[in-house]
Amino acid sequence: MKPFKNLSISFFYFFVSTLIFISLLAYAARFDIKNNCNITIWAAATPGGGRQINPGGTWSLEVTPNSSSTSGRIWARTMCSFNGSGVGKCQTGDCGGLFHCQGGGSAPCTLAEFALNQFGNLDFYDISLVDGFNVPMVFNSTSPKCSGIDCTGDLNGNCPTELKAPGGCYNPCTVFKTEEYCCTGVDCKATNYSMFLKGGCPGAYSFPLDDKLSTYTCPSGSNYNVVFCPLGSL
Ligand SMILES: *[C@@H]1O[C@H](CO)[C@@H](O)[C@H](O)[C@H]1NC(C)=O
Ligand SMILES: *[C@@H]1O[C@H](CO)[C@@H](O)[C@H](O)[C@H]1NC(C)=O
Ligand SMILES: *[C@@H]1O[C@H](CO)[C@@H](O)[C@H](O)[C@H]1NC(C)=O
Ligand SMILES: *[C@@H]1O[C@H](CO)[C@@H](O)[C@H](O)[C@H]1NC(C)=O
Ligand SMILES: *[C@@H]1O[C@H](CO)[C@@H](O)[C@H](O)[C@H]1NC(C)=O
Repeated sequence: MKPFKNLSISFFYFFVSTLIFISLLAYAARFDIKNNCNITIWAAATPGGGRQINPGGTWSLEVTPNSSSTSGRIWARTMCSFNGSGVGKCQTGDCGGLFHCQGGGSAPCTLAEFALNQFGNLDFYDISLVDGFNVPMVFNSTSPKCSGIDCTGDLNGNCPTELKAPGGCYNPCTVFKTEEYCCTGVDCKATNYSMFLKGGCPGAYSFPLDDKLSTYTCPSGSNYNVVFCPLGSL
């Protein structure tokens, strides 16, 4: 009986791990990242690394959540140059000089953020300007039933002088580093600067404790579009 019993136990484990594998795949998401700008963008993603996307090009990125990692972010890097080992730098969104990003990008950069398969079998997603703004973006689901987020205002052209950065516009926290702008204190409200950022990017997080309306949900297993410069040019 013993060999038979061992066999059935290993079959049981095979069956369970296959089920877990299939259920994780069911929560995978594809992000179609499109560069609609008239300049080259070095898209960055964690997880995912990086990809050079010429004007009009796309990068189809699959993200499969696992027990230790369900969330991620996607952003644009501009004016990059890298050597043959993938080491160099970008004017905005640089991630420690690496072509294949392993951590976050430096400010200013418009961020698409997501967390897959959270409670209620929902994906959560948002656009954050907490690290400022570099490139206009639309972040939506391929399903028209889920809300899209538009961040298409001219926040570079209209950026207040105090926040101007080469190739972008900083969040006031990055520049002034005060409680009021960084929300390190308990009381944290919108400011004239966060209202300026929100004006060009109505669905985005404009300061760290921005309202709950800035987070969107879609059923797990959905796929998404991240479009840089949805209105064309930059
Ligand atoms: C989970 O996913 C992350 C991001 O894709 C990856 O870096 C990590 O190695 C994965 N961990 C396991 C245990 O598979
Ligand atoms: C790329 O630059 C890095 C850092 O300066 C250097 O360590 C590496 O050898 C360079 N690779 C090539 C192929 O030039
Ligand atoms: C998502 O946004 C892009 C760019 O604005 C648009 O072309 C596409 O139709 C939108 N998709 C949905 C499902 O709304
Ligand atoms: C925003 O408010 C600060 C502090 O009250 C002020 O110094 C600054 O001029 C204002 N900036 C804009 C663009 O309104
Ligand atoms: C991109 O479009 C902007 C705005 O129309 C224009 O000023 C700029 O010269 C264009 N850049 C290129 C590389 O075509």
